[in-house]
Amino acid sequence: MKKWACFVGLILALSLGVISAGAMAEGLRSLRGTEAVKGDVPSENYRYERDKTAQQRQFVQQPPVIPHTTKGYLISKEFNKCLDCHSWDRAADSGAPRVSVTHFKTREGKELTNMSPRRYFCTQCHVPQTDAKPLVGNKFKPADGLVK
Ligand code: HEC
Ligand code: HEC
Repeated sequence: MKKWACFVGLILALSLGVISAGAMAEGLRSLRGTEAVKGDVPSENYRYERDKTAQQRQFVQQPPVIPHTTKGYLISKEFNKCLDCHSWDRAADSGAPRVSVTHFKTREGKELTNMSPRRYFCTQCHVPQTDAKPLVGNKFKPADGLVK
């Protein structure tokens, strides 16, 4: 008897959750409006900007944006295409800037002899640029340290 009551309670709680989530979704509108997103990678929705030289940062601690296409660049547990050019032992040959020394430090501040795991997935922080238009206007100005 008790078990049965518990089960009914659970179903009731779950359906209430679904109803309230539905009500919340109705009140929300995407900044994108009704434009559909075709996929979750830039190349499916937007065109990569043409390769450039390093771009101006907006504040000194900013992860610099990626000034080149990253189409087809794989980052997995076994392989990291970015390090093919940006690691310290490859940079001289590739002409790419070396990863920052900060990328060898663990979260606890310990210096490692190789990339810190927390910096392994480059595109968590560094993003390629596309022709996507800003979704909303903004008046952002570069930080004081960068004003010429
Ligand atoms: C084939 C070599 C190559 C690969 C692979 C590559 N890069 Fe680059 N990257 C470069 C070169 C060369 C530059 C310098 C461009 C310039 O300044 O002319 C650069 C510049 C950058 C910069 C700008 C640095 C700054 O100081 O502004 C970032 C960030 C970057 N790459 C990140 C990445 C990430 C993340 C990946 C992987 C998704 C990647 N790169 C893969 C060659 C490469
Ligand atoms: C957790 C965020 C984060 C991750 C992950 C990360 N970076 Fe960075 N990166 C930064 C920040 C912030 C800076 C600028 C400040 C600094 O030098 O630490 C930077 C700087 C750089 C620079 C410029 C170095 C210079 O001397 O100006 C390069 C090149 C770079 N990163 C490449 C990479 C590559 C390649 C990966 C992946 C293997 C990677 N980063 C992963 C945050 C990150």
